[in-house]
Parts: sequence; C-alpha cells; structure tokens
Amino acid sequence: MLIKIPKRWELPESAVTPRKLVEARRPLVASMQKEGLIGRAMTRREALKLAAAGTTMAGCGQYIKGLDTGAASGLSSPYADWFPVPRNKAYEVPERAVTDGVSATTHNNFYEFTVSKSDVWKLVGDFELEPWTVEITGLVANGGTFGVEDLFALFDMEERIYRFRCVETWAMTVPWSGFPLAKLVEYVDPLPEATHIAFISKNDPEQMPGVSANPGYPWPYYEGLRIDEATNELAMMVAGMYGEALPRQNGAPLRVIVPWKYGYKSIKSVVRIAFVNKQPGTFWNTIAPDEYGFLSNVDPSVPHPRWSQATERLLPDGQEVDTMLYNGYEAEVSALYSG
Ligand code: MTE
Repeated sequence: MLIKIPKRWELPESAVTPRKLVEARRPLVASMQKEGLIGRAMTRREALKLAAAGTTMAGCGQYIKGLDTGAASGLSSPYADWFPVPRNKAYEVPERAVTDGVSATTHNNFYEFTVSKSDVWKLVGDFELEPWTVEITGLVANGGTFGVEDLFALFDMEERIYRFRCVETWAMTVPWSGFPLAKLVEYVDPLPEATHIAFISKNDPEQMPGVSANPGYPWPYYEGLRIDEATNELAMMVAGMYGEALPRQNGAPLRVIVPWKYGYKSIKSVVRIAFVNKQPGTFWNTIAPDEYGFLSNVDPSVPHPRWSQATERLLPDGQEVDTMLYNGYEAEVSALYSG
C-alpha cells in the first residue's frame, strides 16, 4: 500500500488563497510601491496601514472584514465602540461579491478634501470627528441639535449590504451599518406641510483643503430628498461600513445612503437636516443643472449628457456589468415614481 507523505512545501487545495483576495491586494501593493514603502524601514503610520492590509486579507468570510478605519486614515474613529452591529439578512446582494474594504475606502469622492478619488483617504487624517452634532430643523415638531452618539443610541443600528452606483459609472457592493432614515423622520415628527428634506455637510476650510482649492463650488455640499423617498425602507443614515465605524473618507461620522440613486445623493459628514415645504437645491444641480437632476435615480436608459449609463464598472478590477434600473431596487422603489 502506498502512503503518500506530503512534502513540507505541499499545501492542500483548501489553503490556496482565493483569487478575489489576491486581486484585492493589487491597489494596496501598488500604492505601497508608489509611496516607497517597500525596501526601507516603516514609520508607525505606515506599519498601521500594512497591519490593516494584513487583517483585511486574513478574513475569508462573507466579506473581507477587519478594515481598520484608523489605518486607512491615520487616526482611529472615536465611534469605534458602536460596531459591529447585527446584520439584517433581508438586504443582501446575492449576485455580486462584496467589494474589498481597501478599494471601498481608497477610491472616494469627497470634494471637500480633493477632487482626486485616489487621494481622499490620504488627506483626511486630521479631520476632527468629535464633538459632532446634527441640527434637525425646519418643519418638525421634535427638532433640535443632537450629538451624533445620541442619534446612534436612539435608533437600533443594523448592517445591510447594498449596491452603490456612482454617476461616473464605477460601482461597488458594501456592507453599511446604520439605521433607517425613516426612523429618524418618524422621531422628529414632520409637520403636515413638510414635503422635502435638505441635508447639509460639514464645511470647514481649515480642515478640508478642497473647499478653498475649489472656491467656485457652492459650498457647503448639500443634497435633498422627497419625504416619501426618505421614508422608503432602503434609505439609511450610515455610521459604519465593513463592521467598523465609518472612515473619514467615506463620510464619518454620519452620512446618507440611498442605494437606488446615483452616489452623489448619498451626502457625507452631515451636520444639518432641514425639513422644508419645497424641493431644495442640490450641490451638483447648482453646478451643472443639465447633467444632475434632483431625482437622479439610476437608470440605464437615460445617458449622462457626456457618457452612457447602460453599463457600470465594478471596483476594484473594472469588470463591466449591465446597469440595473433603480440599481436593482425596482421592487422596493418603483411605486415612488409611478405618478
Ligand atoms: N458628500 C460630500 N459632502 N461631498 C462629496 O464630494 N461626493 C458624492 C457622495 N457624497 C460627496 C458626497 C459622490 S459624487 C459619491 S459617488 C459618493 O459620495 C462617494 O461615496 P464613497 O466615497 O463613500 O464611495
């Protein structure tokens, strides 16, 4: 009888690193090479970055877990202890792999810091998240100024996996942690005449170099939703991703996520929420009214004036897939637009 004694260097098939994980390392390795991390002693900050990559790649669960929000930004979040939160399995994206955490936190749009997508995470290091209040104002019975942790405590947080589609055609699939925006609306109790909600981002030129670098933009960043959109089950106030507190580059400490709309509707680092009785203006509609409408629902049949929206490119590798009406959330939201 032949008994095969494995050589020390032979590994079982189960130990082979999944291709997805290997490929997810590419942007990180490239940025390490660019920054000259290979071939010299590392600073503590660089070591932290590397540690984040290690923990990120070690996880082989449903999504690549263990993203160290501090390592990506140079500082950790003061809200780390609120996470992780329970997963709500009613909201998953079965047909797509969850995007690796490194890609989702190093490819960003956050114009208050820079217009360069690959550099936001490098510029947010000193952005102060504490104290942070959100003023809820306008046509509501129960408004006021809330500490962000008071909001975390008021509403049960949960994790949901959503598709995310930028108008520029890149797309990702992300586990977000937060609470339904509908819960907040219910709590503040809008007056009958309120029809829309305006959201306003933090605007601090001292900490946000993109504000003074782009004086032509109508700062602060602002967005809006109809109240029936805001109370749709999918709309969320998000405070975390990948089981951890939201990194600064992704809109810490609190942002909006409306997954059936183009990404620019998902406003970051919110400081003010105003209930109003007419459609509010939006940052991008003010800059380019012919290109960015108020509703901005994902729709493959309506091209952007300068490019097609029929397909999209998944992070990190740019795999091209068909764009779905309402980003795949037709069942949940089409009734909002039937009129
Ligand atoms: N919110 C603010 N305050 N400033 C911004 O520049 N960019 C928007 C949106 N929210 C933006 C913002 C755009 S264009 C997109 S695509 C998403 O944030 C990107 O979110 P992400 O960086 O977490 O992927």
